[in-house]
Amino acid sequence: KRAFRCLGIETSCDETGVAVYELGRGLLAQALHSQAAVHARYGGVVPELASRDHVRRLPALVRQALAEAGLSPSGLDGVAYTAGPGLIGALLVGAAFGRALAWSLGVPAVAVHHLEGHLLAPLLEPDPPAFPFVALLVSGGHTQLLAVAGVGRYRLLGESRDDAAGEAFDKTAKLLGLGYPGGPALAALADRGRPGRFRFPRPMTDRPGLDFSFSGLKTHALYTLREAGGDEQTRADIACAFQEAVVETLVIKCRRALRATGFRRLVVAGGVGANRALREALDALARAEGVRVHYPRPAFCTDNGAMIALAGCLRLAAGEAAGLEVEARPRWPV
Ligand code: KG4
Ligand code: ZN
Repeated sequence: KRAFRCLGIETSCDETGVAVYELGRGLLAQALHSQAAVHARYGGVVPELASRDHVRRLPALVRQALAEAGLSPSGLDGVAYTAGPGLIGALLVGAAFGRALAWSLGVPAVAVHHLEGHLLAPLLEPDPPAFPFVALLVSGGHTQLLAVAGVGRYRLLGESRDDAAGEAFDKTAKLLGLGYPGGPALAALADRGRPGRFRFPRPMTDRPGLDFSFSGLKTHALYTLREAGGDEQTRADIACAFQEAVVETLVIKCRRALRATGFRRLVVAGGVGANRALREALDALARAEGVRVHYPRPAFCTDNGAMIALAGCLRLAAGEAAGLEVEARPRWPV
């Protein structure tokens, strides 16, 4: 029986990601192009520019990933593309390209949910988590807690009612005069802050439930900045207090989700999962609760093609049939 290899294509936002995954063997190759430089001067992702850049980059990235895997296109058994949620124009680039490539090769194409890609990303690591697990998904577009019983078996436990955690990082970073994307810059500024000078609220932790609300934290940051002034040390202290509030809020809800499900494993995925303070706090939680916590490496926390190739491989191997339609859904519940 020959190997099963799937090409993964990710174009939902501002990264063009391509990878080849082989069942039972792992990742064979990956290629990524970040559009950060394209959008930086606008302070956020410009959808039309994102679509155009995906069109420009995708063919060369696919060629590069195939060459790195030592494969010709006919060595592929399937093509997975991110079908949503995300920017519709950006999604359509990857969806149309992936569908057409699959058709020309006579192999199936599979439409992958972007968040499924994120939450399965820890399976790309050498010591993958066994099912079931609680997944904390913290990206620029989403903040969710999910009970994951297996591939395709996801139950939403709670989610943000307003801003996603990454969005709150990005907006607060902008207030503090930091560039885009703001998450990593805010985290770096927070390292120079003095803990304890300011205390931000821990939204929605004073009542039961697993939902989040992060939009108030950026408002809190704005008022604190107005009152305390914007000198370098004060801005660092605000960044520190903001990050501490987001981290502690996430930790409290993860603890609740672990206790409510009785699961012994926690998986952290999405761009904010790269945050060092969050990782340290979740490591401490895991020790205290006697559970294991799994993180993808930072490059697999943010958007990438590898997680899409993996999710596509698992879905195709499970016998998922795909038609000839091109699927792209800007909104798509997990
Ligand atoms: O998962 P991702 O790459 O894209 C989405 O699907 O949204 O997540 C991007 C988000 C951005 O909001 C970015 O600021 C945030 O993740 N982020 C971080 C860090 N690295 C990326 N936030 C806090 N600390 C970090 N180290
Ligand atoms: Zn993402």
